Amino acid sequence: MSVRRLAEKQPPSFAFTPENLAWAKAQVAKYPEGRQQSAVIPILWRAQAQCGGWLPQKAIEATADLLGMAKIRVLEVATFYTMFNLSPVGRYHVQLCGTTPCMLRGAEDLKKVCHRMIGEPDTVTADGAFSWVEVECLGACVNAPMVQINADYYEDLTPEIFTRIINDFSNGRTPKPGPQIDRINSAPVGGPTTLTDPSLFAVEEK
Ligand code: FES
Repeated sequence: MSVRRLAEKQPPSFAFTPENLAWAKAQVAKYPEGRQQSAVIPILWRAQAQCGGWLPQKAIEATADLLGMAKIRVLEVATFYTMFNLSPVGRYHVQLCGTTPCMLRGAEDLKKVCHRMIGEPDTVTADGAFSWVEVECLGACVNAPMVQINADYYEDLTPEIFTRIINDFSNGRTPKPGPQIDRINSAPVGGPTTLTDPSLFAVEEK
């Protein structure tokens, strides 16, 4: 994974909207006295949503002020988790898993598709539609290789399928998330491989 730094170009200010501020205070109130910092991740997440999908420095600082934390502590959280974007993202933000199971199953070829169709990581296409970044394991290794696009997983990818998915988004269609081959969720490819003998589970007729 690449080094994660704040974007060079930053907005001059940030303030939570009244709705988000009320929401944030409600999150803080869930924790015992002295443990308010535990709300840092959901509040950063809400700040990111308010900023259109990324976290400017001023939003990180506003979160620190709200929680009474040192700014560096909140910056550490924001730079550690790839769920937090430190520079602007496209309307469709692709997180490509490059960890070992996905890499062994073709993630490098998917990366080439990202380079060809989107461009360099951490940049946004000229029309504002796409951005991409390589991330660590997203927990769907059994259906490797996979990517996350906004909130959805797209699994069992090949370069051809991934290209078609990006084209679909480009053309205003939302492709069906999940496995892109003929299997249900993470069931074995080609059908069940265990408990295939009915005598193991069939109920005898009386
Ligand atoms: S290694 Fe890619 S989802 Fe786990």
